[in-house]
Amino acid sequence: MNHFLDINQLSREDIFSLFEKANQIQKMSVNQQSLLLQNRSIISIFFEKSTRTRVSFQLAAQRCGANIINLDVDLSSIGKGESTKDTLNVIAAMNPDAIIIRHHDDGFCHIAASWLKNTQIPLINAGDGTNQHPSQTLLDLYTIYRHKPSPKLKVAIIGDILHSRVASSLIDGLSILNYQEIILYGPQSLLPSPRKEFIIAESLRDALDNADVVVMLRVQQERISKDLEINIEYWQDRYGLNNERIKWCKNDAIIMHPGPINRGTEITDEVADGPQSVIFEQVKNGVLMRQTILDYCINF
Ligand code: NCD
Repeated sequence: MNHFLDINQLSREDIFSLFEKANQIQKMSVNQQSLLLQNRSIISIFFEKSTRTRVSFQLAAQRCGANIINLDVDLSSIGKGESTKDTLNVIAAMNPDAIIIRHHDDGFCHIAASWLKNTQIPLINAGDGTNQHPSQTLLDLYTIYRHKPSPKLKVAIIGDILHSRVASSLIDGLSILNYQEIILYGPQSLLPSPRKEFIIAESLRDALDNADVVVMLRVQQERISKDLEINIEYWQDRYGLNNERIKWCKNDAIIMHPGPINRGTEITDEVADGPQSVIFEQVKNGVLMRQTILDYCINF
């Protein structure tokens, strides 16, 4: 069994072999797919809101023939004062074949994995605080790879990067695969501290200029203090992607967004629904990539 806690646990070779496995799963019939995790039981626990990741893991488990139970945290005994550690140990005592967790604390999944060290139950990180979102990273890397197989690319990541676990794990993932240039742009207060893996752009134009891949991010208002509430027009003007600005990128650039999208703030409707957008393809690839992750964690 394998935990899947952090994109950094994978090497370049591991990532490519997961892509290969995803391609194989995609070619399988519905019946063949349903044998991958036949009679397996998976439990998912989401301490934070989610549409895409939660439903995507559920569908992925079902397509592989597994049963999946989504623990409703609001109806669980956590509301009666049970600690998260006890809750997790209770779930583990029921011996599921995997546990999927999303949590608001940075690094929570690593701690949770240490609580489960005497079990053989794989733990899958569905996003922890501002730290990691490795299943999103794999689906993002796979989507980029399907469009542009060579890593000689300029990848621009724009918006609230500081609070985005999608951005921080994607930067790690792109670095593992040796992408040529990772360039970030956003308000000074929402940028991470400098690291050798990326460049901070001087302007939006500088970030988008000749970019091959653009990843737009929403402002994570729930992680920012209420006094810093953003002004939509201001954000659009400084950091938003529209049909004019998309022309600064390469003609065949792809536009990505992990969702949820705040249309009209970081991205306009024309761009989100335009020919260069791969936003819904990311969602589609998400189910396939999560089937691949469940197979990797449970079957190996
Ligand atoms: C993201 C998340 O929850 O980290 N969404 C997702 O999983 N696709 C991004 C976000 O909340 O902005």
